[in-house]
Amino acid sequence: MSDSIKPQTSGAPAPNSAPAHTPASAPTPNMAVNFAGIPMKNPLNTASGTFGQGWQFENFFDVSRLGAITIKGVADKPWPGNDGSRMADVYGGIINSVGLQNPGVECLVKDNGEYLESLTKRGCPVICQVVGHTIEEYQNALRLFEELAPWAAGYEINISCPNLGDGCAWGAKPETAAEVIKSLRPLTKRPLAVKMAPVNIAETARALEDAGADGLSLINSISGMAIDVQTRRSKIARPTGGLSGPAFHPIALRMVYEAAQATKLPINGVGGVMTGEDAAEFILAGATSVSVGLTSLADPTSPMRILEELESWVVSQGATDINSLRGAFEC
Ligand SMILES: Cc1cc2nc3c(=O)[nH]c(=O)nc-3n(C[C@H](O)[C@H](O)[C@H](O)COP(=O)(O)O)c2cc1C
Repeated sequence: MSDSIKPQTSGAPAPNSAPAHTPASAPTPNMAVNFAGIPMKNPLNTASGTFGQGWQFENFFDVSRLGAITIKGVADKPWPGNDGSRMADVYGGIINSVGLQNPGVECLVKDNGEYLESLTKRGCPVICQVVGHTIEEYQNALRLFEELAPWAAGYEINISCPNLGDGCAWGAKPETAAEVIKSLRPLTKRPLAVKMAPVNIAETARALEDAGADGLSLINSISGMAIDVQTRRSKIARPTGGLSGPAFHPIALRMVYEAAQATKLPINGVGGVMTGEDAAEFILAGATSVSVGLTSLADPTSPMRILEELESWVVSQGATDINSLRGAFEC
């Protein structure tokens, strides 16, 4: 793990930031939000694929304190993922090509269902991520979740993995993105959020809203490369992989802002969140909730630190409710 993604504390506010108002004994602000019809006691979510199935983090903190968790993408049948070396350090993050390795819905539920159900009972909603190569595979995976996972609070439909042979084909165009959601909408009454590809944001957000999505989660990792100049080969087993980490936080922030301008759908901001300040930027740009990704792998306790820093920021703004700060960015 490169030093550049090691967690930092937020530090002092920038000199040109709005004046902080911190009353001597500020009351605890309301941090509860509603993302896509899923009530969350605070905006802290986890980015799919970076938080296991949640239980792996219970030795580090009480996972039920999170607003929600989003589990790794799961298909109707097991996927082996990509061969060979899957991760490489780059400036400000990593490049990965896991390729959505997963055990399939049945096995996932068999091995983790009891824990995930107990987590929901402890007050932390579980968002199940659904993946597929074809419309039929997406539908089969969703049907299986509907049948086997009554505890699921809702779904995140991943149409944007950069590490499959066909790349983020479904999410790359508004029409194909909408096609996936239209095909899934009749299969569930539960909230359907969509993990968007980092392209065509405004147009795709509007198409997804029309198709019946309840929320947007953005962004997935961006396709990138890392070359070992001695061997002249890729540092991972494929020529390209998905870039994650603080290097792309400003890009993710811009895209969350664009989506918030284009649609009324609630947004989950994902990308390079290392501090409460990064999370606050997403809220100001229009996000309702925020997912911590790679930072959890560098420091498994970071979601709790980021939550505390986010709450301190709300207090510093003189606000009593985080919802009043959503979209409060001014140019
Ligand atoms: C090892 C690894 C596995 C990932 N697996 C998934 C996945 O299964 N589904 C998905 O939508 N995104 C996946 N992602 C992308 C993250 O959910 C997130 O969108 C991305 O890493 C950006 O956030 P970050 O910079 O905070 O890590 C994965 C990322 C990493 C690093």
